[in-house]
Amino acid sequence: MPVTTVATIAELRARLDADRAAGRRVGFVPTMGYLHDGHASLMDAARDACDVVVTSIFVNPLQFGPTEDLDAYPRDLSGDTALAERHGVDLLFVPATAEMYPTAIRTTVSVAGVSEPLEGRSRPTHFAGVATVVAKLFAIVGPCHAFFGEKDFQQLAVIRQMVHDLSLPVEVVGCPTVREVDGLAMSSRNAYLTPAERSAAPVVHRALQAGRALVEDGEHDAAVVRAAMAAVIEEEPLAELDYAEVVDARTLEVPEPLAGPLRLLAAVRFGSARLIDNIGVVAPS
Ligand code: PAJ
Repeated sequence: MPVTTVATIAELRARLDADRAAGRRVGFVPTMGYLHDGHASLMDAARDACDVVVTSIFVNPLQFGPTEDLDAYPRDLSGDTALAERHGVDLLFVPATAEMYPTAIRTTVSVAGVSEPLEGRSRPTHFAGVATVVAKLFAIVGPCHAFFGEKDFQQLAVIRQMVHDLSLPVEVVGCPTVREVDGLAMSSRNAYLTPAERSAAPVVHRALQAGRALVEDGEHDAAVVRAAMAAVIEEEPLAELDYAEVVDARTLEVPEPLAGPLRLLAAVRFGSARLIDNIGVVAPS
């Protein structure tokens, strides 16, 4: 079946109302486009679990800070349409900014707690922008399942908290991070990397693995794990560390001593690109 591109909220609702009336389960994969195999893995998971798969492509201005890369964000609608079609997407929702925000938005969703550390410290308005657009997209699409990547681990935690707190009728499904063969997590923002930066970028994954190895060896001091990850990043001259942290996988707080399911997360700049990545580990008891 060819993918159908829909640009308006009214048309998308009309089509999906008919699907729901026929008892079909609607799966949803929200994206900002410039799609890669990470996005494709979410579409595949939606295809497996649901009868109708909807993907949105919307570069959401609300989640970009004033000095961030909104205007530079990469776009390729024809490549995206081909990828969506290959992965069984039925409806591609591609609204213009004026369709999503016809007037200045005065209602926002902000999620306290999990939004605040890590990315929240570097990008203070980011997660309110994400939560607001995802709440709005959920209201437009009305999915029973929505698929998000662990690549954006804190975003996944923010969405889960929002869905829980607001009793939104959608099951959030987290999907594992898809990586290049050298370990670099796939990301639309990898397109910003120069060839030299691209060669350097797998250092992020190596730093996270170094942190994980320490925890597995019984290190219980978060500061030691943090410092070890930072040291790996600092060896790479093209990399500029924003943060490398180890947190409780559920609360995103730093447990002292380290215990239970943990997440190691890092944000690193390479020239104009700011890349994030994370991996999980369970502290040995
Ligand atoms: P975007 O960065 O396009 O990512 C869309 C979805 O793809 C997110 O759930 C993200 O975690 C997932 N994803 C990205 N790279 C991945 C990888 N390498 N492996 C697995 N999944 C990956 O995240 C956003 O857009 C936006 O914030 C959005 C949720 C659409 C709201 O605007």
